[in-house]
Amino acid sequence: MKTLILSLVTLLVAGTLVMAETQVATLRGSTDLTAEPTPPIMQQAENKDLKRERAYPQQPPTIPHKIDGYQVDLNFNKCLSCHNRKTAEKSQAPMVSITHFQNREGQFLIDVTPARYFCNQCHVPQLDAILLVENMFIDMDTLVSQGK
Ligand code: HEC
Ligand code: HEC
Repeated sequence: MKTLILSLVTLLVAGTLVMAETQVATLRGSTDLTAEPTPPIMQQAENKDLKRERAYPQQPPTIPHKIDGYQVDLNFNKCLSCHNRKTAEKSQAPMVSITHFQNREGQFLIDVTPARYFCNQCHVPQLDAILLVENMFIDMDTLVSQGK
């Protein structure tokens, strides 16, 4: 009996793995693991200084300027040299919003919280790019107007 259950479980796990393999869409596409894929063309940052519409209210705004070579590490944060409270007057960049000063308990700190230190975790530069992977995203207003 034990062996039967064991082999059933093994079959199930193997089956799930096979299914996962066929369903996952990767940026590698169908290139074999041992082969070198042709890299996609480098995307061009738009650098237009224009806000884009946010697809939903909580979306981090996309970056309307180039960020090539901007250092963000333990020693220095180039973004904050313009976007922090103390620097925004001189740079005329929008100050990071107050949420960026809140720690995970919702308490306001004196400076940007470590949780928001690595800006590019959430903010991406605006690109004139072809979609790498097709998706079915629908803007919430469209969704509401469709009565879904
Ligand atoms: C030299 C100053 C400067 C630096 C450095 C800088 N920014 Fe900006 N940023 C600006 C200014 C000015 C704007 C206002 C729009 C414009 O002029 O492009 C802006 C706009 C933005 C916006 C759009 C805000 C909105 O409300 O739509 C985001 C997001 C942003 N920057 C993120 C970043 C990130 C992330 C970095 C670091 C990788 C960075 N910025 C570095 C000056 C700067
Ligand atoms: C964990 C995700 C996350 C990280 C990390 C993060 N942001 Fe944001 N940011 C957001 C979201 C979401 C918004 C829009 C809602 C809000 O203001 O909280 C936003 C808003 C902004 C805005 C617009 C502020 C306004 O009032 O219109 C600026 C500028 C900005 N972020 C810059 C930065 C910079 C610079 C850093 C790095 C020091 C950074 N963000 C790190 C998620 C993030």
